[in-house]
Amino acid sequence: MRRASGSNTGGFKTWALLLLATLAAGCGDAPGPQAADAKQTPAVQPATAVPALPLIPMPASTARGEGGFPVRADTPVIAAANDPAARQAAQQFARLLEESFGAAPRVSDAGDAGHAIAFITDPQLKASAEGYVLEVSSDGVRIRARGAAGLFYGGVSLWQLLSADGENQLPVTLPAVRIDDAPRFAWRGFMLDSARHLQSVGEIKRLLDQMARHKLNVFHWHLTDDQGWRLEIKRYPKLTQVGAWRVPAGKAGRDSVGKPVRYGGFYTQAQAREIVEYARQLHITVVPEIELPGHAQAAIASYPELGVTGKAPPVSPDWGVHTWLFNVEDPTFTFLENVLNEVMAVFPGQYIHIGGDEADKYQWQHSPQVQARRKALGLADDMQLQSWFIKRIEKFLVAHERRLIGWDEILEGGLPPEATVMSWRGTKGAVEAARQGHDVVLTPSDVTYLNRMQSEEVDEPPAHDYPTPLKAVYDFEPVPPELDAEQAKHVMGTQANLWTEHVRTEARVEHMAFPRLSALAEVAWSPKASRDWNGFLQRLAPQMRRFARAGIRAADSAFAVRIDAQPQGDGAKVALANQAGFGELRYTTDGTEPNARSARYAQPLQLKLPATLAGNAFLDGKPLARTRNQRIDAALLRSRDAEQLAPCRKQGYVLRVEDDEPLQGERAVVPVDIAGPCWLWKQAPLEGAASLRAEIVDLPYNFQFGGESAAAAPPNQANAPAALQVFGNTCEGRPLASAKVAQTDAATEQLEIALPSPMATRDLCLKFSGDYRHTLWAIDRVELVPAAR
Ligand code: ACM
Repeated sequence: MRRASGSNTGGFKTWALLLLATLAAGCGDAPGPQAADAKQTPAVQPATAVPALPLIPMPASTARGEGGFPVRADTPVIAAANDPAARQAAQQFARLLEESFGAAPRVSDAGDAGHAIAFITDPQLKASAEGYVLEVSSDGVRIRARGAAGLFYGGVSLWQLLSADGENQLPVTLPAVRIDDAPRFAWRGFMLDSARHLQSVGEIKRLLDQMARHKLNVFHWHLTDDQGWRLEIKRYPKLTQVGAWRVPAGKAGRDSVGKPVRYGGFYTQAQAREIVEYARQLHITVVPEIELPGHAQAAIASYPELGVTGKAPPVSPDWGVHTWLFNVEDPTFTFLENVLNEVMAVFPGQYIHIGGDEADKYQWQHSPQVQARRKALGLADDMQLQSWFIKRIEKFLVAHERRLIGWDEILEGGLPPEATVMSWRGTKGAVEAARQGHDVVLTPSDVTYLNRMQSEEVDEPPAHDYPTPLKAVYDFEPVPPELDAEQAKHVMGTQANLWTEHVRTEARVEHMAFPRLSALAEVAWSPKASRDWNGFLQRLAPQMRRFARAGIRAADSAFAVRIDAQPQGDGAKVALANQAGFGELRYTTDGTEPNARSARYAQPLQLKLPATLAGNAFLDGKPLARTRNQRIDAALLRSRDAEQLAPCRKQGYVLRVEDDEPLQGERAVVPVDIAGPCWLWKQAPLEGAASLRAEIVDLPYNFQFGGESAAAAPPNQANAPAALQVFGNTCEGRPLASAKVAQTDAATEQLEIALPSPMATRDLCLKFSGDYRHTLWAIDRVELVPAAR
């Protein structure tokens, strides 16, 4: 669907005028159309009659009135001196205004409440504990709630209304409106993995700030895993002396003179308390996660007696499912209870997360001692043993008036009586647990795992397998349809999880989290019936500017212009699109930055070579993304980034993996099927090609797939030096051509393979010889080099 280009003076002020005009004409809100399929169609412009209030998450209910209220820099913000909750919320609101407008209004005692912004605790208010009522009239703004959380959320909504135009200037005239808001779900979570890579206390506070601004209220903090133990436990100092440090895989694990690099760190209890308190002020509960009985390698590296074999493993530099489990002896439970005692002293929230996922039973199965204990306990199998383990921990937590929550594997062998289940392997676990009368939190990995890439573009950072675009998160419905109304009451809410195996830096944490967490916030807070993808995108545009203002490096993957150039005659046919199919796509070909007056893209362009194309998407005259640039020449048309090649296996396990070098600075990031590295170049234009030039990287192979695969044949160390082989489309038989890889000190190697000639356009399959579990060679880019004329 397309609409004529609007005026470009937009933003919130225009929005307010438009709204007033529409209200005067007697029109109401109309839901926007669904976005067209993003991949192929030109971007569409939303056709919402009245733009929705620029809020994320969308409130439960809004009613618009007549007139409006101008908020000026000197508009008083008031809260009664004897209303501490209101005073706190008003102060927090003032700090949000300071971020947007450069100066914080002074918060003063009530007095004359007219023409002011007033925060009021109202115990009689008909609202839920976290709900609020926000009223804007020509007399001023009132935010009322029963308690501190509601007042805070009301302040956040008001700040969003004021900061929507991105001009960072007061006055802003608000239209008259009454918002009655309350969350759909009680558990609105975000999980951060600080075990695989840890983040600074400052960064975690920044994330908590953003959570609170999205009305999210549970920070699930993943603190222990095979790759690191991150919380100081005073009784067991080796957990952080030993368990908090690892030697990274590959070249990242050696310094310039070949000495091992120690990588890691931990949070002191004082720092954890600081985070708990910071979160509390933002109405966020911190749920710590201490993993058991699996994901325990760092703990066992610190105290080998906790393990099954008695041996001390290293703190793992690998990713995936490891084999090191806690043993099932009483002293191990004493250890875990002592640890949990310290954890409970730091984290006052009701829930303690005990992990429970991916406990591969290999070590238990192969241990006579564990099996003897299992039999003595009268347990039929290792699933029952795991269940016994978790139940024993639950008993301890319940005795301390806490509640156990764990990943859905805790269903196996039988759930502890009061356990809450976090369903990650789809929604099956939630359905089963809710039917058994247990509370559940929905966090299915296919739509709520923010460690997955947001798009398959070359500029995405490293990530887990397959894309989870913004829309996939937005479309998630947390209540599984299999549940009846009574069972559905056990759905406490939903949560987005950010595992950080491939998220090494804080900038990348932000890129992966935002704006997908904005989508999750709407899923968790807003009424199901109000879900509107196009309206969300429209409201996301100002949110992206708020992110920028706060220094949050949010991903623009949904809006970024993708430039696809194909040969056409002696030039190129160039198509533009963006993932969300949203905004006006505009471009230049003269090297200048595209702006809201640049040529508007409507259909594929015919360009002479060489050309330089720059494109962006715009809404209301403002850019939605970073400009994307592409030089289009003959060499580009003969080349492919690895992202433009297909994996040979349909069900491959394609990760975006980061190179392990250089030690400092930018590293290559490549998509590679880590369980069968192989690339298909469909319809490679081979006419006239003399050779294939490849840019390749050697990656450390640091992946584990549980006990059976660890016990299988080890990688062949005495492998013949690898060669890059070029096959026809079957990837089998004798290669058409190949060339040996010459390992140099360069991070990216160049390889040139002479091709038989003549060849016609055909599919090519590219593979490296040798055992990829020894050295994981991967393609970064390939190019066909023409014969010299
Ligand atoms: C998980 O993703 N292993 C809970």
